Amino acid sequence: MEKKFENLPTHIAIIMDGNGRWAKERGLKRTEGHKVGAEVFRNICQYCAEIGVKHVTFYAFSTENWKRSKLEVTAIMNLFRRYLEEMQERYLENEEAGYRIRFLGSREGMPKDLLKMMDTVERKSADKTRININLAVNYGGRDEIVHSVRGIAEKVKAGLVSVDDIDENMISQGLFTAGQPDPDLIIRPSGEYRLSNYLLWQSAYAELYIDDVLWPDYTPADLDRAIEEYGRRNRRFGGV
Ligand code: FPP
Repeated sequence: MEKKFENLPTHIAIIMDGNGRWAKERGLKRTEGHKVGAEVFRNICQYCAEIGVKHVTFYAFSTENWKRSKLEVTAIMNLFRRYLEEMQERYLENEEAGYRIRFLGSREGMPKDLLKMMDTVERKSADKTRININLAVNYGGRDEIVHSVRGIAEKVKAGLVSVDDIDENMISQGLFTAGQPDPDLIIRPSGEYRLSNYLLWQSAYAELYIDDVLWPDYTPADLDRAIEEYGRRNRRFGGV
């Protein structure tokens, strides 16, 4: 595909929001919205790979989402299970087209069988280079920072690191996104002006783009609009 954008973000992060409202508008169950949302996730992954985005991160399930009804949580986990089975199968059969997949989030509280599949998919995709896809599952930005700081504290306790050595880079390296660039563009569909505990540390200089479209209706054309707007903005990183 020929180059479509002058200024393509290296890392796009997306909050998949609005599944519930989309379903409600149609008199469907919320879980139906998640089902369509997961298909959109798949399409947008494919589109990002096509246009040459190198890193894309999706917020699928937050540490706060456990508060939803048991029915809804189970439905989301089942959807996730189905997609993981599919991904795992494709990697085991070497059919995957260059997607490196990683999961951001805490393992605590996640069903064991999912953790096992997540490990397999991460391991089997580790040498793929076309696109890095991160799926934030059981993820919270504050929780992630706590996780990083605890790791550093352990090293200080063991005498491996001195307090004076602690810097921004060390905290970054302890996050789930260690080694990946910070997001350049964060997209939130469905009209909410919040980060909702998403990539709090990494979003320091990200451009935010809020869209009215609900996630199940989200299309590549919507992503194009966000990227074009991003291309028009003048990022100064605190400079002039
Ligand atoms: C936010 O919409 C969406 C979620 C909390 C779940 C997102 C999950 C998926 C798209 C499926 C995950 C599976 C895979 C394979 C990625 P909402 O429910 O908060 O919508 P609302 O704000 O309209 O209620």
